[in-house]
Amino acid sequence: MQTVHVELGVRSYPIYIGEKLFANSQLLRAHTRAQQVLIVTNETVAPLYLQQIRECFAGLSVSQVVLPDGEAYKTLAVLSTIYDQLLQEKHNRTTTLVALGGGVVGDMTGFAAASYQRGVDFIQIPTTLLSQVDSSVGGKTGVNHPLGKNMIGAFYQPKCVLADTGTLETLPKRELSAGIAEVIKYGLIVDGSFFNWLDDNVEKLLANEREATSYAIQRSCENKAMVVAQDERESGVRAILNLGHTFGHAIETAQGYGNWLHGEAVAVGMLMAVRMSQMMGHLTQSDYERVCQLIHRAGLPVDSPKNMTGEQFINLMGVDKKVIDGKLRLVLLERIGQAVVSTDFDTESLHQVLNEYCSAA
Ligand code: NAD
Ligand code: GLY
Repeated sequence: MQTVHVELGVRSYPIYIGEKLFANSQLLRAHTRAQQVLIVTNETVAPLYLQQIRECFAGLSVSQVVLPDGEAYKTLAVLSTIYDQLLQEKHNRTTTLVALGGGVVGDMTGFAAASYQRGVDFIQIPTTLLSQVDSSVGGKTGVNHPLGKNMIGAFYQPKCVLADTGTLETLPKRELSAGIAEVIKYGLIVDGSFFNWLDDNVEKLLANEREATSYAIQRSCENKAMVVAQDERESGVRAILNLGHTFGHAIETAQGYGNWLHGEAVAVGMLMAVRMSQMMGHLTQSDYERVCQLIHRAGLPVDSPKNMTGEQFINLMGVDKKVIDGKLRLVLLERIGQAVVSTDFDTESLHQVLNEYCSAA
């Protein structure tokens, strides 16, 4: 087992990464304060892993809420069913919520924990590659609004993250690829040598080869922990973790939540940001082509949805959380392995990229 630490003073916590961690109940018990535990999962993950997690808490008062599966259910209405159960079962302030599932379950459980009785403990047990490398770490929690992705939420850190890599064996290939998009992101924004490693090893990740996958999860978590430790609430550098997300969130919102996977939308969004960085003179044509090929080899899309217009992108990008005082901020690259957050980007390059990527009139 590898342990990566997220250093945030009193809110610090470990990320445990390894195989068969569900068999080690002590890992979870060490982060549970009292008798009550509510496991939040969904209808796909419950039949696979719920029983094992319930057993980890044997002897405590354990119950579960099984949510419908999908990004389309990441809503205030579905979130409310978690509060209903907490109240019906009289959970008090020492209860622990356990998120068992991908990023949707993790984000919703985290927000329920942040807001129930003004804050109770929670533990992240991510079961998708995307959630193991990204969403379970760093404390962003929340739900979608029909007008914008992740628009309602809170920063709220878990007590620990337990990433059992064995869960990836049941993960559909398309979801594995979506997770690789966020792994590639770390190489692009802060870790050029990891990008080179990915260029050499992406097929091993696609085949879910044990050693390569564990290494990629560990390295991704180390990179994310380093950025989050510098800027927990995204007043500065943390925004680089959103490379491609401003374009990507526009795609997810326009296509209807769940039709494009988050990782797929981020993959195309990253390419658009890389292309823009190239147009602005920071990257070469061969850098752009290298990124494009890596994303393609990872089984991810390299074109934006056929039905989107540049105007639609611009409108939806204006609802992004990085917009300050009406000014759009974009994450761009200065080189592979170094990102910057920019408000004074070249608008002409933005329009050129949108023209290039949008075939719809
Ligand atoms: P997801 O939670 O929808 O999971 C993907 C699919 O895989 C679902 O159908 C799920 O039921 C299924 N699944 C989960 N684990 C499985 C397993 N082991 N075996 C078989 N099937 C399994 O999607 P995701 O990609 O994990 O997360 C995407 C979400 O995360 C988005 O809502 C995105 O906004 C959010 N996100 C949040 C952050 C953050 O910092 N909080 C970062 C990135 C993404
Ligand atoms: N996924 C972006 C962040 O955690 O900041």
